[in-house]
Amino acid sequence: MAWCICLGWPNASSLIKTQLENGHDDASTSGDISMAMIEGFRIQNYGVLKDITLGRLWNQPEHSPLTPLVAVIGKNGSGKSTLFNAFGFLSDALKVGVEEACDLKQRGGFDRLLSKHINDPIQFEIYFREGPQERPITYELSIAKDENNRPYVQSERLRQLEGQLIFGRSFSFLHLENGIGEAWKGFSYGEEESEKVNIELTDNRRLGVATYGVLAEHPRIAIFRNFLEHWYLSYFTPDAARGLPLAGPQKHLSIHGDNLSNVVQYMERDYRDKFQDILNQIASKIPGIDKIDTKRTDDGRLLLRFNDRGSIR
Ligand SMILES: Nc1ncnc2c1ncn2[C@@H]1O[C@H](COP(=O)(O)OP(=O)(O)OP(=O)(O)O)[C@@H](O)[C@H]1O
Ligand SMILES: [Mg+2]
Repeated sequence: MAWCICLGWPNASSLIKTQLENGHDDASTSGDISMAMIEGFRIQNYGVLKDITLGRLWNQPEHSPLTPLVAVIGKNGSGKSTLFNAFGFLSDALKVGVEEACDLKQRGGFDRLLSKHINDPIQFEIYFREGPQERPITYELSIAKDENNRPYVQSERLRQLEGQLIFGRSFSFLHLENGIGEAWKGFSYGEEESEKVNIELTDNRRLGVATYGVLAEHPRIAIFRNFLEHWYLSYFTPDAARGLPLAGPQKHLSIHGDNLSNVVQYMERDYRDKFQDILNQIASKIPGIDKIDTKRTDDGRLLLRFNDRGSIR
């Protein structure tokens, strides 16, 4: 039997999404990431994913970008969960560095993550756009093993296309090899020396975007850091969502979905019309159901009422 996972980019009901509300008041970034979109990505040598590209990359303008909701369908063992885990790995790498990220969440260390019979680094490439009118940014990360068999960041690069076109010359505004490299301040696209800084990380297991993305003089790096930091990964499990937690609206779905009914309460309270619209759409898709509406219980929980030709289920 084949299973499928969904990658939902912003503004879609999603398993992976940046949070719609950017709760951080982070002056070092240009702010709103709610419209950020991953247009494409490439993963190499990560588990069963030896080399996979989805959507468009900076040097493949002819490819279609990913859409806000992506369903990945494939037979067992084809790498759907691995794909999903790769995004979790990147998010963890930002927080704790690449070595610890390899060991977290039962990943089992670098050697188990690296594709079998491969000696090349694990590599990621993410092509993303902060908003529909923004120039796309590409992030490239390469993780290899050092002489002590410990994973480190072999290279890292952030680049942006010059001009509004989806192809053309790209300008690297962060480039590190083994923790040493250069970054360009501000938003300029020229290679003026005055804007360039030489950088050196004290820990080559940490991401450069984690360190330099918190500095006000590097707003473009901050944009990517902010984007990565606000990925929200949800391992929704239907069993967890079947529980009946205490009443109380909650804005965000928990990782396993066990607060689903609280999120439903939040939607009903804060987006009543949209919520009813969603219920109407669900009802229209289920044969035999005329209408779905809500009923509040004495202890404040919200029940969904399915009206089946006049009767209530
Ligand atoms: N380091 C590795 N190199 C190559 N293959 C690996 C590596 N680690 C795990 N695998 C293989 O990856 C596969 C697991 O892939 P994954 O769990 O992502 O598949 P899936 O598409 O989610 O499958 P399912 O539909 O069963 O959930 C297994 O066949 C496993 O043997
Ligand atoms: Mg799976």
